[in-house]
Amino acid sequence: MAANSNSNDQGYELTFAGKGLARAMADSPTGYELKTRWDQSKDFDNTANVVIRGDNLDVLKILYQNYFGKVKMIYIDPPYNTRGENFVYKDDFRQSDASLIEEFGMNEETTDFLHNVFGTRSHSGWLSFMYPRLKLARSLLTDDGVLLVQIDSNSSHSLKLILDEIFGESNFKEEIIWEYRTGGMPAKSNCFGKKHDTIFAYSKQSSSYQFDNKSLKERIYYENDFFGCQTDAQGRYYVDVKVRDIIGGDIETVENGEVKILSVKPLINMSKERIDGFATQKPSGLIKFLAKFYLERNERQVLLDFFAGSGTTGDAVMQLNAEDGGNRKFILVQSDEEIDPEKSEAAHKYCTDRNIEPVISSITLERLNRAGEKIVGGGVNLQM
Ligand SMILES: C[S@@+](CC[C@H](N)C(=O)[O-])C[C@H]1O[C@@H](n2cnc3c(N)ncnc32)[C@H](O)[C@@H]1O
Repeated sequence: MAANSNSNDQGYELTFAGKGLARAMADSPTGYELKTRWDQSKDFDNTANVVIRGDNLDVLKILYQNYFGKVKMIYIDPPYNTRGENFVYKDDFRQSDASLIEEFGMNEETTDFLHNVFGTRSHSGWLSFMYPRLKLARSLLTDDGVLLVQIDSNSSHSLKLILDEIFGESNFKEEIIWEYRTGGMPAKSNCFGKKHDTIFAYSKQSSSYQFDNKSLKERIYYENDFFGCQTDAQGRYYVDVKVRDIIGGDIETVENGEVKILSVKPLINMSKERIDGFATQKPSGLIKFLAKFYLERNERQVLLDFFAGSGTTGDAVMQLNAEDGGNRKFILVQSDEEIDPEKSEAAHKYCTDRNIEPVISSITLERLNRAGEKIVGGGVNLQM
């Protein structure tokens, strides 16, 4: 199986410990297969939406068999390589890729070295984790498809270089800034307060790349009248412009003449949408905003998120379809990572109270079931 990557003809690339193995991991077969959990499914015959529980490296390899070249948009928000703690998502290549190690002719010393690298907070460990997944992700995209990866400043520089390598530099399309903090920040040791994540967008193939939601504009107000300004009912001067690539807070959008407030505000403790114990949960408004640009409303196009977390992407797709009668589909992948009762007491209690396994994928499924019910008319509070 070849994950069909774009070759680098620029003469430079990022090297890191374990890169050869990481490359090969994308191409090695998986021994796993998918099994439908009818007991956990709802409206299976009518909805084409899917949640897959498992390690996304294996799942991407399985999806490769049926979804090669079929996914229009991929959005991922991977675990960040925070400098403060060890990277907990390392691949246990000792077990799953024993044959690969044999193939690479590694000795125990090298394997031990890589094993440690994969488990530390080093850039090499994080990049080794991401590399095969990004390579497989590219192969799933349609020719006009797009991959969006959200990241912070600890890894944006190295991520950009491996994306350039896997997708080809000419397929780099956007660097979108999401301001997750628009207010002030308590004084800390850093000189400037950290307030944004970066979202990189790469096309599969520049010549076929499809994006523009031409009907979506941003409304900007001005104090004074100037050339091109219009006046609204309250006498304010405004211009409807292309949406900016720096987004934050509440954006006033205009779609087919209709003015709406789209909130891409971070979810603070009091937010209705926020699930307790999910510090990394993103607002569904952010994903709705991105999906509006890249997915055709009615074409049954698929949005894949293989670091699904609390299931924001699925919730966003359902909300968007409910709002505009669209027919977009989603596939989410989330591992059965255990919920730490100390860090996420409420989410853990939620699971144990209901006799469901205290793993993150339980929360993903629960949120989506509730979001689905809400849209059908149940009126459900998503807080836990
Ligand atoms: C930053 S969070 C995503 C948060 C999500 N965007 C949301 O709004 O809730 C990353 C998620 O990826 C999951 N994850 C990490 N490694 C994984 C793997 N190998 N396979 C599947 N999921 C994984 C983690 O359990 C975590 O829930």
